[in-house]
Amino acid sequence: MLSAIVFLLLSAYLTRALFNEARRRRAIQHIQGPLPSSWLLGNLVELQIPQIYGDFESACRKAYGLVYRFKGGFGRDRLAISDPKALQYIYNSAAFVNTPAYGTLIVWLLSEGGVSGKMGREHRELRSALNVGFSPAAIRNYGVIFERVAQKLVDRLAACMDENKHGVVDIVPLLTKAALASISEAALGVPLEEVPPEVVETNRQIVEESATRRPAQLIVDEILNLELLPGWLLRAMPKLAIGEVFKRIRDQVRYTERLGWQAVDSYMERGLDDSNALETLYGALLSDNKQGLGNLTVENLVQQTSTLFIAGQETSAIALSWLFTELARKPALQDALRTEALELRAKQVPFEQYPLLNAAIKASYMALTKYLLFK
Ligand code: HEM
Repeated sequence: MLSAIVFLLLSAYLTRALFNEARRRRAIQHIQGPLPSSWLLGNLVELQIPQIYGDFESACRKAYGLVYRFKGGFGRDRLAISDPKALQYIYNSAAFVNTPAYGTLIVWLLSEGGVSGKMGREHRELRSALNVGFSPAAIRNYGVIFERVAQKLVDRLAACMDENKHGVVDIVPLLTKAALASISEAALGVPLEEVPPEVVETNRQIVEESATRRPAQLIVDEILNLELLPGWLLRAMPKLAIGEVFKRIRDQVRYTERLGWQAVDSYMERGLDDSNALETLYGALLSDNKQGLGNLTVENLVQQTSTLFIAGQETSAIALSWLFTELARKPALQDALRTEALELRAKQVPFEQYPLLNAAIKASYMALTKYLLFK
């Protein structure tokens, strides 16, 4: 009797999976796209581990336009979309969900309570609670911290130039450190020197590993995308810490959350009237419970620590490094930016009203897309 029930359940599960797969195939079959290089990995190798970054996408976009079909793993169809309006619509739609592989990785790396791992109402609530700490007024409060970090960066750059007779300095590691210092101080109120070394090291390893892809990783992603493994098993994997990678992922969440609690405890001890509390993201959210935390609990807040460290560090450092690359090519623009900053700072004009600086920040997004996406 039991085996008959198990057989029926399995058959129903497989029929549903096959039906969904067929529907998925039919829906986008008529859309043009490149031929796959293999059945196992479709076009994923040329897309994700290319010889020259962006070449494959550029060629496809030229041949097929802003929407084209390509092959993922196991002969499955995928859509590539680079139309900004379409992307905005899809991303904001209630039906949008992350791919199983990406969703799983986000939950592993950024904690189960991390904002990016949540969908729908839960995501909106968490996001609007956190937005309080990302408003122009809040960011203006972090100005003192950013200036301190920037000054240290300038001193370090000057020292590097003195040490290096050829005058060539790799600024990316310096920017990475400055970005981490800005986040730990502006988000948590913890100066980088007080962040335990294991947090810095695990964060570094995770960012480094996520920047490189191997075919074996693509296969694991594609297996996850088949959604054959139950959710509870996937969630348990980092906790079981089998293998170096899972151990590191577990440590990332464990260490960053420990640091998050440390920051919260420190605010509680100091008292939240402390005006310094308003200078940081956690301080602002904790000190104005009604306006800031809303439906967010202290635990929810602490669970965002890994997200802030991973989402904010390399993104900022890489965006800045491309901005500086462009500025190095345009010394006149560099001088104009410096003049604007000195003049407006003396008049205490807020950063968001620096016209040239804001134009340069917007253009740096274009630089990101120019170099990384639309090469
Ligand atoms: C130039 C620098 C940055 C770039 C290019 C950037 C880019 C992005 C992108 C593309 C996403 C969407 C990811 C996805 O949903 O798949 C994202 C999400 C996010 N970023 Fe950034 N980011 C930058 C800086 C930062 C900083 C400094 C922080 C905070 C310290 C931050 C915090 C977040 C958070 C919390 C999310 C998740 C938002 C949500 O799920 O609603 N980012 N970022």
